Amino acid sequence: MARGTSSSVMAGAGNGASGTLIGDPVAPLRNFVVEMTRLVERTNREPDILREGEALLARLVAQDDWLPERFAQPHPQFYQQYLLHSDPYERFCVVSFVWGPGQETPVHDHTVWGLVGVLRGAERALNYVHENGQMKPNGEVELLRAGEVAMVSPSIGDIHAVSNAFDDRSSISIHVYGGNIGAIHRHVFDRETGAAKAFVSGYSAEMTPNLWDRSAQIRALLEV
Ligand code: FE2
Repeated sequence: MARGTSSSVMAGAGNGASGTLIGDPVAPLRNFVVEMTRLVERTNREPDILREGEALLARLVAQDDWLPERFAQPHPQFYQQYLLHSDPYERFCVVSFVWGPGQETPVHDHTVWGLVGVLRGAERALNYVHENGQMKPNGEVELLRAGEVAMVSPSIGDIHAVSNAFDDRSSISIHVYGGNIGAIHRHVFDRETGAAKAFVSGYSAEMTPNLWDRSAQIRALLEV
């Protein structure tokens, strides 16, 4: 291999603040997965996971240059949920949530802890409580902007409805859940009657991104 192949040149030393290596654009996501794996290996205490996971996710969504295009595609009708990674023991997963203009979720729950970090655009969320068989809004509509992180959990409030804050462009948020969220039995709620309906969300693609092609870094070492 010739020296100085542009795809193997490192941008800065190692995975610094930018977290991005030329030839390894997905490195920030891989590093996040590694850090989250360390975290759930070290503790299963939800408050610790939420607090430390929030800091890790804030760092991941601080920069919008690592999500592969294939997992950033909106659908004209439906918001998309692309699985980016699932822990093999299903202790957590990472999903890119892609909103087309004006798209919104029904009122729903998660049944596990969740962290939501906005990567691109902005989203609106309104929490609900299920009271006397009815859905009641709980608090004000919250606007979550790029770089901001929110939490959900059965222990702190698990029912909400979320929408793209924009009618004229896509938004993308990165979600981390305390399980393999696409394969978890959850509920959507009728806003008027409060009736709960079981659902399992699944995912919007059959593939996940390749986080593990570190060959450009290794090749660069050969070429020094
Ligand atoms: Fe949600």
